[in-house]
Amino acid sequence: MILATTSHDFWLKFLTPRIWKRIHYLIYTAYISVVAHVSFGILQDQQNHTFTIIFIVAASVVAILHVMAALHERKHGDPFPSQSDDWVKACETSEMKEGFAKIVQLTQKERVAVFLHEGKLSAISNACAHQNGPLGEEKIIRCLVTCPWHGFQYDVTNGSSPAPFTEKVPTYNLKIEGTLILVNRQANTPGTFVEPLVLNSMEAV
Ligand code: FES
Repeated sequence: MILATTSHDFWLKFLTPRIWKRIHYLIYTAYISVVAHVSFGILQDQQNHTFTIIFIVAASVVAILHVMAALHERKHGDPFPSQSDDWVKACETSEMKEGFAKIVQLTQKERVAVFLHEGKLSAISNACAHQNGPLGEEKIIRCLVTCPWHGFQYDVTNGSSPAPFTEKVPTYNLKIEGTLILVNRQANTPGTFVEPLVLNSMEAV
């Protein structure tokens, strides 16, 4: 009931995404309660083996997917750079792929999506202004990246949604040193335009 009631965007804005998200982590409690409830029901009805198998398979698939996601995150999450570095290594220039992003982890909670679009680099926060969806997982189309969760769009050069929408995410400054792309850990105010950085076409895939 709590999750359903607060699912409207009004509550997201009113509570702020951080608190809203914490409340919605209750989905795990709800899930465990459902599994426990059905399990006890099955224990009382040993005749219904088909339903038992379906239930065990469904619950196992959900659990396995969550464990796989956690392992993937641990394996691929970059170690946080030291707090004293103003510029953080993003990746080698040769690792960038036209139209896609490289996600850089600045702190435990802050990630930056560095995009390559038409041979130029731009960086915005990886967290969508709506519900923190992962912007860096999508491809750019006509300078806009579309959030994979609910479809909000952002111009990667200024972190702003196209009119008439008003959502904004922070942008970041970039520089290239040799073959390395570096991100400035100091986020710009959401909606700040940053001139895209030209990448030598021979350096990108
Ligand atoms: S999280 Fe909802 S549109 Fe991005």
